[in-house]
Amino acid sequence: MSAPTLRHSVRSGSPEETHELGMRLGRLLQPGDFVGLVGDLGAGKTHLVRGVAEGAGVERSQVASPTFAIVYPYQGRLTLYHADLYRLADYDELYATGFLDMVGGDGALLVEWLDRIPEAAPREYLRLTLREVGEESRELVAEAWGARPVGLLTDWLLAER
Ligand SMILES: Nc1ncnc2c1ncn2[C@@H]1O[C@H](COP(=O)(O)OP(=O)(O)OP(=O)(O)O)[C@@H](O)[C@H]1O
Ligand SMILES: [Mg+2]
Repeated sequence: MSAPTLRHSVRSGSPEETHELGMRLGRLLQPGDFVGLVGDLGAGKTHLVRGVAEGAGVERSQVASPTFAIVYPYQGRLTLYHADLYRLADYDELYATGFLDMVGGDGALLVEWLDRIPEAAPREYLRLTLREVGEESRELVAEAWGARPVGLLTDWLLAER
């Protein structure tokens, strides 16, 4: 894979801080955005996802853990598709779920375990990698490929607030 156009990393010092980071991203999402999430068990993906959903205006009660379905649509300020590729074997299996029809469509996509099927990502997307660096400390590496993802990452983590 080619190098990202922009890469930036931040530290989170608590689950609440991770949630807050997610919320700020969720407020910026637009239809067509694709955000891939990577990180080991307990890295904090779910905390981040819940924050993103809240930031996108999704009712807290809608946010499940995608256990039985591959893709959950949430209704907020926009449609947020929450997908989890953990249980899928390969790209063909993903193709069969209809997931790919949603890429670049009417909503934003938030895809956990993207590293299981990296080919699921479109050419331009934002990838977030979470890593445990201490009991309460997480490193979040954000990598953007393409103009819109770079703008999104810039507004999220680099712009003056
Ligand atoms: N800075 C932090 N950010 C997020 N979670 C943290 C942080 N510090 C500690 N934690 C803890 O790490 C765990 C993260 O759990 P979470 O369910 O979000 O991880 P996950 O990546 O979704 O794991 P899984 O792949 O098992 O679903 C929680 O127990 C949370 O309290
Ligand atoms: Mg999780």
